[in-house]
Amino acid sequence: MIEIKNITKSFDGRVVLNDISAVFETGKTNLIIGRSGSGKTVLLKNIIGLLQPDSGEIWYDNRNILSMSKDELNGLRREMGMLFQGSALFDSMTVMENVMFPLDMFSHESTQLRRKRAKFCLDRVNLLDARHLYPSEISGGMMKRAAIARAIALNPKYLFCDEPNSGLDPKTSLLIDDLIHGITKEYNMTTIINTHDMNSVMNIGDNILFIKEGIKEWQGTKKQVIQSNNSSLNDFIFASDLLKKASELNEERNQQEQEG
Ligand SMILES: Nc1ncnc2c1ncn2[C@@H]1O[C@H](COP(=O)(O)OP(=O)(O)OP(=O)(O)O)[C@@H](O)[C@H]1O
Ligand SMILES: [Mg+2]
Repeated sequence: MIEIKNITKSFDGRVVLNDISAVFETGKTNLIIGRSGSGKTVLLKNIIGLLQPDSGEIWYDNRNILSMSKDELNGLRREMGMLFQGSALFDSMTVMENVMFPLDMFSHESTQLRRKRAKFCLDRVNLLDARHLYPSEISGGMMKRAAIARAIALNPKYLFCDEPNSGLDPKTSLLIDDLIHGITKEYNMTTIINTHDMNSVMNIGDNILFIKEGIKEWQGTKKQVIQSNNSSLNDFIFASDLLKKASELNEERNQQEQEG
């Protein structure tokens, strides 16, 4: 479980996160949703220790990240898996080498065991056959899956994903969502995902935190989203639906153009 208490963060006097408190539960996909610029990435960066909040507390299963020594923080980092906007694979390495990278850096196991672990992770994301290919030789969805394999290589307790579906078509997005959700349950991880994809919200929103202009507006489950009478949340959903319809129309039109 990760708990944040009264997190506030400003840049040059402008408040970007304003007194946000929330609990992110273990074994669940916890979603942070909100419009572009609402503060999702800044919040995630605060949670993983890449940014320091101006005030507030961040607890990882009863360990306060803000009062940790450098060594303790490095120890905690090894319990974290991360998936950032874009897949951020190393272009000069094969898929297998990408997954081996964190193992070579941090694992004390033998080479044989490290390779076994990398293959296990690649198999879990259904990418074992593509292990000898380079990122430039695989699709966007495959890159995401390779990045997931790399993120789980060290068997993290905590998994963080910033817009894991950006740039993917709706069907591939669904696959990636299901994969992250499945892995979270299987390994009982505490997973936090930034998204503004309403499909993801309805598909894997075990616990949803909605922020608007740096303020926590609403928290609940995907079932509660539909019943909510929070007008900001409803506006957000409505706008996302419109965007989705527009992009579906575009896709249809493109297909028609290609066909005829
Ligand atoms: N390092 C920084 N210095 C100054 N301002 C920043 C910095 N990082 C983020 N911001 C500002 O904080 C606000 C929130 O940005 P953030 O990236 O968290 O939004 P977001 O919700 O992740 O948006 P998106 O959905 O587009 O990714 C924005 O107004 C942004 O300009
Ligand atoms: Mg962002």
